[in-house]
Amino acid sequence: MHVLPSRPLRARRGPALGGIAQVPGDKSISQRALILGALAAGETRISGLLESGDVESTAGALRALGAELTRLGPGAWQVRGVAGQWRQPAGPLDFGNSGTGSRLMMGALATTPIAVTFTGDASLRSRPMARVLEPLTALGARYEGEGPKALMPVTLHGAKDAPAIDLHVPIASAQVKSALLLAALGADGTTRVTQETPTRDHTEKMLKAFGADIRVTPLARGEEISLRGPVRLTGCAVEVPRDPSSAAFPLVAALIVPGSEIFLPGILLNERRAGLIETLLEMGADITVEDKRVSGGEEIGDLKVRHSQLHGIEVPADRTAAMIDEYPVLAVAAAFARGTTRMRGLDELRVKESDRLAAIAAGLTANGAHAVIAGDDLIVEGMAKVPGGGTVATHMDHRIAMSFLVMGLASERPVTVDDTGMIATSFPDFERLMAGLGASLEAA
Ligand code: S3P
Repeated sequence: MHVLPSRPLRARRGPALGGIAQVPGDKSISQRALILGALAAGETRISGLLESGDVESTAGALRALGAELTRLGPGAWQVRGVAGQWRQPAGPLDFGNSGTGSRLMMGALATTPIAVTFTGDASLRSRPMARVLEPLTALGARYEGEGPKALMPVTLHGAKDAPAIDLHVPIASAQVKSALLLAALGADGTTRVTQETPTRDHTEKMLKAFGADIRVTPLARGEEISLRGPVRLTGCAVEVPRDPSSAAFPLVAALIVPGSEIFLPGILLNERRAGLIETLLEMGADITVEDKRVSGGEEIGDLKVRHSQLHGIEVPADRTAAMIDEYPVLAVAAAFARGTTRMRGLDELRVKESDRLAAIAAGLTANGAHAVIAGDDLIVEGMAKVPGGGTVATHMDHRIAMSFLVMGLASERPVTVDDTGMIATSFPDFERLMAGLGASLEAA
């Protein structure tokens, strides 16, 4: 794992932003491509892979478990999988900052009879793992972790003969759902996973592409996913589209910096990830989606974004799953909108890389914007001129760092972010890409 230095940065108002923003590959799909490739028999070729701290942590863990991963060129990787036979790793697996990598791997290891210790950085060690580990015990896995939340380091003992069972996922988490589906690959018979709020479906789509017998049935509320095990996955080719969660930063920057116009080619448009675009359009954003097409089994398109006077709206709680990672930057957009934006049902933000709900409110307030937390809602009162001038505590959270740098590009006075080292976990090229669009970012 990389030790990422703390690097304060300051963003200041400058001229209009313009140009083409080639954002990196999708983090969720990149993680899954490596994990399924490592689990499968034979070779998986990946193009467009996100090469970031989180993905490297997962790659390191997969190597320790016996998979062969080779970088062939920028974003081009070859994986030779273990054909379902993970090797007992020599020591603990360190997942750095990555909730997705660690939680999906807990599922992938739960039906293999080896003992694996999971650890990570201070942020990951404070995040609840019980939400994944507890349901895995129904398949016969056991775990040891700290306290009722099962904080890392945790040791997972995979089950020897896992039975297929019915599992309900009570929270709107794609990580939990995905972990259960990966565990079901090693169970004997048909596992059924139900979830009331449909969440991102990359695991389901990719499992199908790797040869699993998986079916999704809509229910009156939510959906049921059934998977027949045991499954031997077969390696295949994976094309990773560009990440809408990373695109969100230049996109919002262009909306709030007067005169801007930017172009974002090849962005993933999966409807379970598209909540931010839907919300910004409701707020009056000038975003056009061009040349919709299918790539690697996912819909993608090119986005043209122009500076817009936004207005406040109410964002319904049933949209959280489709934009769970985009609330920090949406809150920044809302600070520049006319009127009030109320974002409902944000309880899950409290267990992200930081307590994001608190970090967003604190960052806005530190810069003279008006934000209050009411229960699980965030209310932002827009202003014609956002004062800025504050320093934002990132709490080891990449999306907090990038969101407030975006804010500084349009606020009256510069915004300082105390630590930008973590940006490399998801978007290592962020600073260079933003500078290429004309953003003024400088060491603080
Ligand atoms: C992810 C799911 C989401 C999201 C995370 C990536 C995934 O987490 O916040 O960044 O790839 O499955 P939850 O499943 O905890 O909501």
